[in-house]
Amino acid sequence: MPNTTKYENDMHQILFSAEQIGQRVAELGAQISADYEGKNLLMLSVLKGSVVFMADLMRSVTIPAEIEFMAVSSYGAGTQSSGVVKIIKDIDIPLEGKDLLLVEDILDSGKTLAYLKELLAGRNPASIHIVTLLDKPARRAVDIQPDYTGFTLPDEFIVGYGLDYAELYRNLPYIGVLKPEVYSN
Ligand code: IMP
Ligand code: MG
Repeated sequence: MPNTTKYENDMHQILFSAEQIGQRVAELGAQISADYEGKNLLMLSVLKGSVVFMADLMRSVTIPAEIEFMAVSSYGAGTQSSGVVKIIKDIDIPLEGKDLLLVEDILDSGKTLAYLKELLAGRNPASIHIVTLLDKPARRAVDIQPDYTGFTLPDEFIVGYGLDYAELYRNLPYIGVLKPEVYSN
C-alpha cells in the first residue's frame, strides 16, 4: 500500500492546505525581502523540520541571500519536549557582519530556539531574527518571540510540510492533525 494512502487514513483534520501555506509563505518572503534590502541576509534553516519551509521561503525571497543549515534535536519519538537540545550539525562559517535569519518550522516551548539564538548571538552576527512558519504561543516555556510568523496555532500536535511524528509525515504537502489512535499505536 503506498504511503499516501496510509497518511490519508491517519489524518484527522487538515489545518492548512498546500495552497494556503504557499500564499502565506509568499507573503513572508515579500516582507523579508523588503526588510533585508541592502543587508547581508543569511537564512539559517534548522533541520529537519524546517527544510520544506526553507525551500519555499528562500525562493520567495527576491534579494541576495546566503543559506546554511544546522541540525538539532530536541524531541525523541514522542510529542513532548525533552528540554535537551543536541547540536547534531553545526555551521562552520564566521557570522560576523551577517544578518542572520533563523528559519524554523514551529515555535512550541521555545526551548530549542532560545538555546540556538543564544549560541549564535555569541558568534557576533550583525543582527539575529526569527521566522517561524507556525507558532503555538500557549505552549511557551521561555521568553522568546518570533519576528515573523506564518500561522498561529492552538495547543495541538500537528504534522506535515516538514513536521514529523516519529520521523514520518514530513513529506505531506499540507499541515494537519493526526487521529488520536495514531499516537497510541
Ligand atoms: P520547542 O523547543 O519546544 O519550541 O520545540 C521545537 C521543535 O519541536 C520543533 O522544531 C519541532 O521539531 C518540534 N515540535 C514542536 N511542536 C510540534 C508539533 O506540533 N508537531 C511536530 N513537531 C513539533
Ligand atoms: Mg521534530
